Formats: sequence, C-alpha cells, structure tokens
Amino acid sequence: MNKSTIWALLAVAVLAGSGGYLIARRAPASAPAAPSRSTAEDLGTAHRAATGTIGASLQASAKGKVVTVQPGASIQAAVAAALPGDTVQVLPGTYHETVYIDKDDVALVGVVRGGDWPVLDGEGKRNDAVLYSGNGIRVENLKIVNYKGNAIMGQAGNNFVVRHNWIANAGVYGIFPEFAQNGLIEYNTLTGIEDAAIYVGMSDNIHVAHNEVFGNVAGIEIENSRHAIVEHNLAYDNAGGILAFITPGLPIKTTFDVIIRDNFVIANNHKNFGAPGSIVSGVPSGTGIIIMAADDVFIENNVIRDNKNAGIIVADHKSFANITPDPESDPNPDRVSVLRNLFANNGYEPIKEIRALMVAGMTNQGPDLVAVGGGSGNCVADKTALKTLGLGSWASGCPKSSTAGTLTYLLDQPAPPRALNADNRGKLIYSSVCAGCHAYNVRMIGPPTQVIQAMYAGNAQGIADYIANPVKKREDFPAMPPQGHLSPELRLAVAKYMLSVTQARPAVTP
Ligand code: HEC
Repeated sequence: MNKSTIWALLAVAVLAGSGGYLIARRAPASAPAAPSRSTAEDLGTAHRAATGTIGASLQASAKGKVVTVQPGASIQAAVAAALPGDTVQVLPGTYHETVYIDKDDVALVGVVRGGDWPVLDGEGKRNDAVLYSGNGIRVENLKIVNYKGNAIMGQAGNNFVVRHNWIANAGVYGIFPEFAQNGLIEYNTLTGIEDAAIYVGMSDNIHVAHNEVFGNVAGIEIENSRHAIVEHNLAYDNAGGILAFITPGLPIKTTFDVIIRDNFVIANNHKNFGAPGSIVSGVPSGTGIIIMAADDVFIENNVIRDNKNAGIIVADHKSFANITPDPESDPNPDRVSVLRNLFANNGYEPIKEIRALMVAGMTNQGPDLVAVGGGSGNCVADKTALKTLGLGSWASGCPKSSTAGTLTYLLDQPAPPRALNADNRGKLIYSSVCAGCHAYNVRMIGPPTQVIQAMYAGNAQGIADYIANPVKKREDFPAMPPQGHLSPELRLAVAKYMLSVTQARPAVTP
C-alpha cells in the first residue's frame, strides 16, 4: 500500500480549537514531594545527593553568596544583583514576572516550606517564566503556572540542571533547553503543555530522568540532539509519550545515540491539542513512543501499555504528517534497537492508517511496535513476543542486548561555553532562540523561515524591529513572544542571519 499516505490524514483528525480551554479545566498536578530546604547551607550539595555518581560536571553553582527574594520582591532584581557562583533563593509566595538569567553560574532555587511553594504565575499573559542564556545555570523548586510560551527555556546555556519544578499550563514548551551541551533534567512534573513538556532541542549530552509528564501533547521529546538518555520517567495521558525526532529544516540535522529505558509509558491517549498544521499536531493520539528519522536509538526495559494506537511507532519523514523532508537530513530511522520491554494492551483502538496495515497484514491485533517507511539496521530482541506490523526488514535479535554499560552521556568535565563573536552571533542566536519555533520550510510554532525571507527580503532591520515588539498578524498562529531581551545589535545580527539561511535543494530524480 501507499505508505506515504499513512499519516497524511492525521492532521485532519487534530482538534481544531486551542488547548487553552482544555488545560484550564485540568486541575494542577499533585506535586511530588519536594524536599523543603529552609537553610541556604545545604543548597550546594543538593544536586550531588540526588544524582549520585552522574552529573559530576554540573556541580559548579552555589559557591558564592545567597541572595534571598522575599514575597512581593522581584526575582529579576535579585538575579541582576547576583554574581557568578551566587544562589538566588526564592521564598514561598506568588511572583508575576519573567526572569532572564544572562550571566553564568547562577542557581535559582525556590524554598518550599510546609507545602507552600514560590509560584511564578504568568496570569495567562506573560510568555516565559525563566529564560537563561548563561552557562552553569540551575533552576530548582519553582512552581510555574499560566505562561504562554515556555516555563523554563535555556538558550545555548551549557552545563545546566533543571530539577524539582512543578509546571502546569505553561505554554508551548515546558522545560526547553535549546542548543545546549551537558545538562540534567530530573524530578520535574509537567502538565498541560501544548507541544512537548520536556523538549530537548539541538542539544548534546543530556540526561532526562525521574520526571512525570502527563496531559501534554508530547511528554518528552529529544529533537535534533545527540547523546541523550531518557530514563526512569513516567509518561502517561499525553497524546504521545516519548519522542525522538529529526525535525527537518533546523540548523542541526541529526539525532542519534539516544537511550530510552526504564520508563513507564502508559495510556498516552490524550487528545492531540497541538496547533493545527504544526509537526506535533501530527502525532497520533494513543502512541507510547515515536522514533522519527533518528538513528542508533535503544528502547529497553520500559513498561509500555494501554496506548490505544500503538506502543512504539518507528517512522521515516515521508510517513509523517506536516513534514517536508530536509535534503540535508537522512529521512530514515536506522539502527533502532527495541530490546526487552514490557508490552501490554497497546493498539486496541488504532488510527485508520494502522488499521489498514492490519488488514494488509491479515491480523486483527493493533501493534506494540509498528514500522512505516524506510530505515535499515533496525532490530527487535524478541520479535515473536510482540504484536508487530511492518517489520519486514527488521532483524530478530539485536547486536547489542543491553545499554547497561552506558550510565550517562553527561560529560566528566563541564562543556566550554559557546563562543559568541561578531562572526557567529547571528547564527548562535538563531539556533538557540528562533529555531525553537521557526524551521526552514516546515511549520513549527511560527511560520517557516522561507516564508519570512520572502516577506523581508533585504530588510533585516524590519525583522529586528518586529521581533523587539511583535504585533499579532496571523489568525492561525499564536502571538510571537517579544525578543527585547536581545540588544539591538544582536537583533540585527540574528535578522541578517535569518535572511541568509538556506537549505540544499533536493537531488533531482529523473
Ligand atoms: C516561541 C516561539 C517563537 C520564537 C522563539 C520566535 N518566534 Fe518568530 N514568530 C513566532 C510566531 C508564532 C510568529 C507568527 C506571529 C503572528 O503571525 O502573529 C512569528 C513570526 C515571526 C516573523 C514574521 C513577522 C511578520 O511580519 O509576519 C519574524 C520575522 C520572526 N518571527 C522572527 C523571529 C526571530 C528572528 C526569532 C529569534 C530571535 C524568532 N522569530 C523567535 C514564534 C516565535
């Protein structure tokens, strides 16, 4: 059958309205117990205690003084006064602001006392709760609610720790390190996010562990990133639980060396409330794990059950809705190893494209594992144990039977900061800020870069002015968050870079 149509219809099935109403009715998560730390002394050791032997290169913060923020005071003012090595300690209370951290080695740590949290409340009108561009940043113990953009976004900040945050209804991305190296995301709980709750974008050496994600469009997404481990997480009631993707049209073109293990991936049957037309809106509700075009992925020791569409989908770019393949990316998932996992009760109500595959395969069982499109070197440890579809070219039995030898991909030493100079700064800002929402020729959150290039040809200053103070233009897109935190020079540099972005043309096939 024509596999290229398999996902083509999925976009149609997507919920048309915005997720706001849906989310607003959703009660906030009950928080996992967070240790309450009322003294400053133990803040510096907290990280070591929680992670044991991994993450030794992420210990730098909290060697300086402690700046305390009282309820009613400004967190941003305390951050402005902090020096590298300092800890900004936020006492319980409600704060209405966006916090920008543009210096290195600052820990932003909430104090939870008797169940009272420091709450950053965007009141449905602010875009981001915490935006950092420094290296060695730690963000911990914050409750973040009612933002429109991101809860915690890192922009080219290396050696970060984001831990113990409670995030509900906070926009399109929850925890979003973009263009980062060496970072740890652990013990967070996230719900009500319109794209990916934990979104690792164009990053390297990332560890995502012990998080709870539910009621989001995508739970955890590793996108255009390498050397990432996703382990011991609980992903339930999202439209899609855990994703490893290559999104086409971004400055970094690969995803490989991803380990997804020891997670609970349960009943990810939530309606997909992603923005219509966006890539994430093409995720079929009811899917536990999706691997799209990523290479060298291991899926091991997960409990994958009650996902109504399929336990695992492995797909190439052609088979996915809303995707224009990138000639600079390999569209196929290669060397994906599905090792031992517990599968139960998946695929009991598959989308009609999967039902068509079932008919073609003469089975009435929805799949634990389905492969669509191209890909080579893929394998499944025990093919006969699972309900599978489309595994024609997959090997039964895998060359490597366990990932236990790989404890973490975090670095032993901190990664050096990304150098920002006159030559590369436009590209750096584009990669770390704009590419979270703009890809070259596919729709992410904002319109494709190609469309913007056509509108603003030769007018970089026009872009620089727009992004400082964006006005709402398109009915079917959200508003773009202002980028006034970038200096006029950086705005112009990124605008020029945006106008210069190109992508190789596809090879002409006769
Ligand atoms: C959080 C997502 C997001 C980020 C980050 C983002 N944008 Fe946008 N951008 C959007 C959306 C959404 C629109 C469409 C807004 C509308 O039509 O009202 C948009 C529209 C635009 C436009 C079109 C303006 C017009 O006249 O139609 C330009 C130019 C632009 N963005 C540039 C940038 C640049 C440069 C950056 C990085 C510094 C950036 N954007 C970062 C979401 C984002």
